[in-house]
Amino acid sequence: MKETVIKDKKFREMISSDVINARIREMAEMINRDYEGKDVLFLGILNGAFLFAAELFRQIKLRARISFVKLASYEGTNSSGSVKELIGWNEDISNMHVVVIEDIVDTGNTLELIYGQLKTRKVADIRIATLLFKPGAYNGTQAPDYVGFKIPNDFVVGYGLDYDGYGRNLPSVYTLVKE
Ligand code: IMP
Repeated sequence: MKETVIKDKKFREMISSDVINARIREMAEMINRDYEGKDVLFLGILNGAFLFAAELFRQIKLRARISFVKLASYEGTNSSGSVKELIGWNEDISNMHVVVIEDIVDTGNTLELIYGQLKTRKVADIRIATLLFKPGAYNGTQAPDYVGFKIPNDFVVGYGLDYDGYGRNLPSVYTLVKE
């Protein structure tokens, strides 16, 4: 059993890099099939999705582009306080078929936000590809379209996901050991 310590916490390997990479190949094949003949824009959400996006995108055989955006928080002037906005757009995405690439869908709040902001940009359609999905924590309305692995509602790191900024470089996904 592979274990690792990040800062003050112990993590145990949950999904090996071989299994992850095989699953990403399958996801790419599904996307290649579903979008055959179409021009697709992949949109990676930074920071967490950068590794998954790279591995997925290099197996895409479509006429495709990729771009990355980041969710930034700022103090809004409305009553809800902090507002999150997607930043880093550098192209016109109207009428594009967009595949959003996420590292993990947890509560689904981030996903709702991304949907909302993409819809105002008049894209042709939007689908979500996520490496990990926590159905037990999810309270959104529209589930992700391409899911690598459904996982329990526990904290995980690795393959782009972090604990306090660390652990993104682990080639496998690790879950927190509860002590
Ligand atoms: P949401 O709850 O679906 O909005 O997820 C928001 C973000 O929280 C994700 O994009 C991740 O960056 C982060 N996140 C959620 N669960 C985990 C986890 O288990 N490990 C590391 N980051 C997580």
